[in-house]
Amino acid sequence: MHIDQARIEALREPYERGITPSATLATNVISEIIVNTAYRALAAWVREPVLSDLFLRASRDEAGHAREFLFYLKRRLNTHPHELTSVLERIHFYATSSRLNHPVGVYKHQLVEEMRGYETVDDVIDVYLRFSPPDEQDRLQAKLRRALGSAVGRDLTRNSDIRQALADSMA
Ligand SMILES: [Fe+2]
Repeated sequence: MHIDQARIEALREPYERGITPSATLATNVISEIIVNTAYRALAAWVREPVLSDLFLRASRDEAGHAREFLFYLKRRLNTHPHELTSVLERIHFYATSSRLNHPVGVYKHQLVEEMRGYETVDDVIDVYLRFSPPDEQDRLQAKLRRALGSAVGRDLTRNSDIRQALADSMA
């Protein structure tokens, strides 16, 4: 089957790039960890065994994507340490927010006004949080902080750690 790439491109509004390649990579790590965690929870939640297996497989795929983006983020930061501030800024935005935002939702909502009123990744996240234990969002944000903390070589457990790291990176 022939797929006309131009027609696909026309439908896909491009993502806004991060202010640095490292920030883009960090945002990707965040995306992948969020969907990895949400799919895993959905796999445990649904009763239908085929759906459950699909969610589990999807979750493992996303875990692999997260590891790959993390690998490239670490490598990029090694050679471009001045991009650290932009990474910490992204971590601060996603890991300390009171509402869990998925990057796709953040970018697509900004870009595609017509998507308002449609179900988006944020609706899936709302479902996932609704059936999860009340501390699920905190646990997910802790996971993001651990993964990204390993990439920037700092403990980012507390909000003050992230702010301190930001201040240090700008000093
Ligand atoms: Fe992915």
